[in-house]
Amino acid sequence: MSSVNDCKIIYLPRIASRQGCISPVTSCKDISFDIGRVYYLYDVPDGESRGGHAHMQLQQLLVAVMGSFDVVIDDGREKKRFTLNRGDQGLFIPKLIWRELENFSTGGICLVLASDIYDEKDYYRDYDAFLRAQNR
Ligand code: TYD
Repeated sequence: MSSVNDCKIIYLPRIASRQGCISPVTSCKDISFDIGRVYYLYDVPDGESRGGHAHMQLQQLLVAVMGSFDVVIDDGREKKRFTLNRGDQGLFIPKLIWRELENFSTGGICLVLASDIYDEKDYYRDYDAFLRAQNR
């Protein structure tokens, strides 16, 4: 089982210079898992939300590389809201956490570093099935 308390803000390196910033993310150093896939959410229309699922095994780090959005995480017992709005901070989400991404700012981009390739069989898209998996 996972808890919302296992979801943590990860402070990433920030290499700043007059020309701007770089934030490198290295597997097993800045994040605890090997990166198996990178994807990003963008062009999210005003008022739209994303997510609405949990993963059986997948672990993820979410970074607002542009703009901002909120992530509501839910372990079936407790919910927590994080606002992400910095390129040098990410939200680590372990397996078995329901998540909703909402309040995207115009042009907001969510970078996702994931521990594995895409596999639809790894999703709980049904909230009751997720609750059963969490023994709630
Ligand atoms: P989903 O993970 O539900 O998106 P979000 O959590 O951002 O709302 O994925 C939406 C659709 O995109 C779904 O049909 C699966 C597909 N998809 C892929 O084909 N590959 C991927 O790596 C991801 C993340 C999604």
